[in-house]
Amino acid sequence: MGWFSSSLFRRKDVAQLIGEMNDGDRLNRRLGPLALTGLGVGATIGTGLYVQTGFVAREFAGPSLVLSFLLAAVGCGFAALCYSELASMVPVAGSAYTYAYATLGELLAWVIGWDLILEYAIGSSVVAAGWSNYLDALLRHVLAVSIDPRLQSAPWDFDVQRGVFFLRSVTLPDGQTAQAWCNLPAVFITAAVTVILVIGIRESAGFNAAMVLLNIAVILTVVGIGASYLEPRNWRPFLHEEKGWSGVAEGAGRIFFAYIGFDSISTHAEEARRPQRDLAIGIMGALTICTVLYVAVAAVLTGMIPYGQIDINAPLAAALHAKGLTFAGGLVTLGILAGMTSSLLVGNLSQPRILLAMARDGLLPQGLFAAVHPRFKTPWKATIVVGVVVAAAAALAPLGFLADLVSIGTLFAFIVVSVAVWILRITDPDMPRPFRAPMVPLVATLSMLVNGYMMFHLGPENWLRLLVWLVLGLVIYFGYSRRHSALRSRALEAVPRL
Ligand code: ALA
Repeated sequence: MGWFSSSLFRRKDVAQLIGEMNDGDRLNRRLGPLALTGLGVGATIGTGLYVQTGFVAREFAGPSLVLSFLLAAVGCGFAALCYSELASMVPVAGSAYTYAYATLGELLAWVIGWDLILEYAIGSSVVAAGWSNYLDALLRHVLAVSIDPRLQSAPWDFDVQRGVFFLRSVTLPDGQTAQAWCNLPAVFITAAVTVILVIGIRESAGFNAAMVLLNIAVILTVVGIGASYLEPRNWRPFLHEEKGWSGVAEGAGRIFFAYIGFDSISTHAEEARRPQRDLAIGIMGALTICTVLYVAVAAVLTGMIPYGQIDINAPLAAALHAKGLTFAGGLVTLGILAGMTSSLLVGNLSQPRILLAMARDGLLPQGLFAAVHPRFKTPWKATIVVGVVVAAAAALAPLGFLADLVSIGTLFAFIVVSVAVWILRITDPDMPRPFRAPMVPLVATLSMLVNGYMMFHLGPENWLRLLVWLVLGLVIYFGYSRRHSALRSRALEAVPRL
């Protein structure tokens, strides 16, 4: 039992991890600080900003949505400091999975690697599924054509209130209702993104940069135009009339989704030119840029429209339309599409790199997930598998059921990373730390508390779903991964035979 439990918690040496950076087939080191920051911003800005702000302002925070954004940024900021230290110290592809392997041992590393599938692959499916609605809105706005509604939705869905699955029907242009078939645009965009991702990291970063620039240009235009329609009386009272201060905290938990993605930079460690320095710059830079843009949008949105009248489905576009700014409303749709495309791109970029790290450790089949393309130097097979899974889930799965899992899974990863940074300060105090998070363990503790608080607010149903997901992961671990673990094999070889 002692051997069994100790083998589950066997840690990978940090020096060994760093030594492995030059072994075998490696990815291309092409990314500088700007490209890394761009990937972080690309992954982060999307539906959270363009859609969720309306719901949170109206139901929880009112004009104090600005504070909710700042509070969520504080939780993310503590986690970002911890991520930055570990990413600069252990600059290998697996992000939180690798940090957990070096600190908490193999079993918990597996758990966090499995958990990260929620953040990246499931997150990407949710984004791809939502993408088709905005494509349809843009096509209608610009070309006055519409996609067949049966080809825009998965055939079934989940009713969160009643806790039941149901067949999904849609309304056809002639007013009749019909059964939905599948979400076809989601398949197309995922396939297109997968091709770019397989071809190369530079091409992927370049495409992402174009989407990010378009997205930021749209946000700045909206803020600029919206600012001239501000009515300061809309900011009074500042707190939500029913929720008060608790609305600020609840709002932060809900708006956390908008920040998911900045941490994905840590999965690109193997492709960073100077990972020790640039990963920290990218992580902190992306979080700062997103926070500034989010706070500006929140201030303008709640200043333009009384918060009780903010539209829940398309808050920014509706606010601009309400002021007669139809053209700017159309721009918002373009911004959303760009934001969602880059979120999808970076999610599908990050996921294969985590699978790659897990496969190199023997926890997943190496032939499939650790294969690096000889010419493109990308984890091409893993990228294609991720593309197929994301496209299938986006086309067919009831994603409403899974969306909150993305948030709870990410918060869980943040907490593990905060624990890891603290443990490594104790176990490896002398390892070089090109970036040192200030005031550890205070910062690590605050990260655990603030992110744990947001996790708590996601409610028991999501905790249960996370538990089911993790149990499924453990079945795979004990069924396959443990027996194929490279670390375990090395340890068994080292045991002297009698
Ligand atoms: N942060 C990403 C978004 O808001 C997931 O879409």
